[in-house]
Amino acid sequence: MQKRQYLVAALAAIAFIGMAIALFRAKPVVAQSERSAAVFASDGKLTLPKGYRTWVYVGGPVTPNGLNNGKAGFPEFHNVYIQAQNVEAYLKTGSFPEGAVIVKELTRVLDPTFRDGSRTEPSGRGFFNGEFNGIDVTVKDSKRVSKTNGWGFFTFGHHRLPYDKTVAESPTTVCTGCHMANVAKTDMT
Ligand code: HEC
Repeated sequence: MQKRQYLVAALAAIAFIGMAIALFRAKPVVAQSERSAAVFASDGKLTLPKGYRTWVYVGGPVTPNGLNNGKAGFPEFHNVYIQAQNVEAYLKTGSFPEGAVIVKELTRVLDPTFRDGSRTEPSGRGFFNGEFNGIDVTVKDSKRVSKTNGWGFFTFGHHRLPYDKTVAESPTTVCTGCHMANVAKTDMT
């Protein structure tokens, strides 16, 4: 009998320690998903997000000058990064959580040798990432931005590095208008 009681007590202790470890480990993850990557300065300007190149890389459309009569609006790769928890939420619900940040970093096509902007590399003829050339960011924050479906649009410059460190929201005519007209139904993205 005594042995059995000892066993029960030992099992209970193991279960308790297991739960304590699980809770301890779960905590920072919860805190992280609640924290937004958007940091606003005291003057209301957005700070350039840190570490975005390690977020989920969701794709990189390319619209080079060579395919747009020599003058594309964005003649670069549009490399888009979103934090994993926000990608997961969007895939589940069809909309992004409050505080979600989307980064679009532009890179020029690498030294074109053909008129269409392509070149030949060991892997074949195509378009390859060249110099960094600008960064656009959107932030879902319906408290700050009530008009444009809760999304603020920011550009840290459309040029080579370095980018601006803090920027004010872009006017609707520059960015938001086009997103409102084309993708209002898919959470502005
Ligand atoms: C003429 C229309 C147009 C304008 C103006 C425009 N965008 Fe976009 N934007 C798009 C399209 C289309 C995509 C998706 C495909 C692509 O990247 O080409 C996109 C993609 C993005 C993305 C990646 C996430 C997504 O929605 O797919 C961000 C971030 C973004 N734009 C921010 C901006 C910012 C900031 C500005 C202003 C500086 C801006 N855009 C101006 C049409 C536009």
